[in-house]
Amino acid sequence: MASGYVSLSRPFFLLLLSTFCIALNSNIRVWPLPRKINSSSNPLQIHPYSFTFTATSESCDVLDSSFKRWWKRTFINLEPRLKKTFQYETSQFDVLSNLNVNVRQSCNGGMYPSLQSDESYLLVIKADGASTLVATTVWGALHGLETFSQLVYETESGTFLINETVVEDKPRFKHRGILLDTSRHFLSKEKILENLEIMSQNKFNVFHWHIVDDQSFPYQSFYFPELSNKGAFNPLTHIYTQSDVKEIVEYARLRGIRVVPEFDTPGHTLSWGKSHKELLTPCYQYASENGKYGPVNPILNSTYAFMKKFIYEISMMFPDKYFHAGGDEVNFDCWKSNPNITKFMEKMKFGTSYYKLEQYYMEKFKMILWYMSGKVATRTN
Ligand SMILES: *[C@@H]1O[C@H](CO)[C@@H](O)[C@H](O)[C@H]1NC(C)=O
Ligand SMILES: *[C@@H]1O[C@H](CO)[C@@H](O)[C@H](O)[C@H]1NC(C)=O
Ligand SMILES: *[C@@H]1O[C@H](CO)[C@@H](O)[C@H](O)[C@H]1NC(C)=O
Ligand SMILES: *[C@@H]1O[C@H](CO)[C@@H](O)[C@H](O)[C@H]1NC(C)=O
Repeated sequence: MASGYVSLSRPFFLLLLSTFCIALNSNIRVWPLPRKINSSSNPLQIHPYSFTFTATSESCDVLDSSFKRWWKRTFINLEPRLKKTFQYETSQFDVLSNLNVNVRQSCNGGMYPSLQSDESYLLVIKADGASTLVATTVWGALHGLETFSQLVYETESGTFLINETVVEDKPRFKHRGILLDTSRHFLSKEKILENLEIMSQNKFNVFHWHIVDDQSFPYQSFYFPELSNKGAFNPLTHIYTQSDVKEIVEYARLRGIRVVPEFDTPGHTLSWGKSHKELLTPCYQYASENGKYGPVNPILNSTYAFMKKFIYEISMMFPDKYFHAGGDEVNFDCWKSNPNITKFMEKMKFGTSYYKLEQYYMEKFKMILWYMSGKVATRTN
């Protein structure tokens, strides 16, 4: 994908900002703004050490792990004060000791979010009777827990309060993504995990992983380890191993985030050529190869055999239904210079339309993707 295709600075600023705007303010605003929020000025007090989340429906790995995470997120800055005994502020406030969490659709262990997931939830915090979070799917429940944590605030004397509130919410857009480009600028696994955590706090649900490009190939392939051995900025420190990728995909899943990988072809592939020159088109000058390489060579059967095996591996590593295939900014000059490609163009009756040759490649690639993984390809342009 083109550099400068998306500017990350602005959303990131917002993201970072929002994570620090928590507590110590009773005029709490939930971010992003829910569809409907009916807040009252009737606070309830919460004792962090006796408060619990209770699954009132069948629970699963996503929900269980989320309770632990949101307990920590709700009671921020608690660790240094662990030894201090917690007092209820006054007897004037009712106590909220439990939030019942009801997920209507069973959430099987190991399930993944998808473009079709229902992410709606209803959160009711009230003094008399049970406070409840109801959601159709566990992914909606995660957003409800985030909203809950943002509604809790802390008084100057260190008491945690939450006002009686009703929130009815569902996202306006099904795809709320952040793109990270780890080819031009390698990001450590830890930084990616941090980003995923901040995305979940902001109710984002797609990590678009622009993982490789011309500049570097940090993905350590199982079938073709030479791709990162030769193509990464550093084959030991600047790579994502198979277990790194699995950890990132799992970390994202537990936060309701899909991981859509982007492996661009036929352009943006110079880093592939460091170990697999035969994949790229040799460029010609004065009737001989000039030592430079262009886009993936679309006229060789070996290209498609390679892609088949590679895509098969990718489909095992990235469970999401979507795959970003790039397809943008294909430089035709190298193709034009290559006499074998010229011959192929004649044979295929493409005339002088190299765009048709690009389409020929993309169609074959899409078929491979569908056949090997059942995935849907998306393109940049
Ligand atoms: C909003 O809250 C007020 C005060 O708690 C209550 O009287 C009113 O019925 C609520 N409205 C809705 C739609 O829940
Ligand atoms: C919560 O209640 C407090 C105390 O009544 C009030 O000052 C504050 O404005 C309320 N917050 C919201 C968001 O309604
Ligand atoms: C490439 O594949 C096509 C279609 O399967 C076949 O007709 C052709 O002979 C193959 N070319 C080579 C060089 O193997
Ligand atoms: C291009 O054609 C020449 C001559 O026909 C052949 O020697 C060479 O291997 C071909 N290169 C590719 C990449 O097919």
